[in-house]
Amino acid sequence: MHTDPAEYIRNAIRSVPDWPSPGVTFRDITPILQDPRSFRVLVDLFVYRYMRQRLDLVAGVDARGFILGSVLAYELNLGFVPVRKKGKLPYQTLAEEYTLEYGNATVEMHTDAVKPGQRVLLIDDLIATGGTMVAAAKLLQRLGANVVEAAAIIDLPELGGSDILKETGLPIYTVCSF
Ligand code: PRP
Ligand code: ADE
Ligand code: MG
Repeated sequence: MHTDPAEYIRNAIRSVPDWPSPGVTFRDITPILQDPRSFRVLVDLFVYRYMRQRLDLVAGVDARGFILGSVLAYELNLGFVPVRKKGKLPYQTLAEEYTLEYGNATVEMHTDAVKPGQRVLLIDDLIATGGTMVAAAKLLQRLGANVVEAAAIIDLPELGGSDILKETGLPIYTVCSF
């Protein structure tokens, strides 16, 4: 490949103006997933970053964080933990509320999903206001997990989420920004 992998991924993201509401530019990762080469470049970027990090688990955020998160867990030979939207998990749960660029939501995790001290990579597709990542990290930390990094494909720095995450002391990694 002649292009930088991060630039290659950035170029594969589709920007949809005024969706889901006027003024929001939606950064759509489905073109990456649809194209086998882009999907492999993306997964390999994350595999090489985390293969020597002695991780125990990958935690992915419902719904778009499940896609990359589960493939990455499989490739790194790790377990996968779903951080789900409210009301979807059948066993005992703990919950955190948060706000989005376009609304409110709650995420939940099973109380036995992580053991104290486990090294967990938290993954999602995108960081906007940071509300989702902060809530997911809090759930993991409440169970005693060591959140090694919060990672996403896309950062929207103007929405301030990556700065908020940095203020919490959580290491973050994103492939590209808009
Ligand atoms: C989107 C995106 C991130 C989150 C980022 O998820 O996938 O999870 O918003 O926003 P934040 O940084 O302001 O919290 P969303 O809940 O919209 O839907 P999804 O179920 O398609 O992932
Ligand atoms: N989640 C929050 N803001 C978003 C955006 N602008 N594009 C895609 N997903 C998002
Ligand atoms: Mg999401």
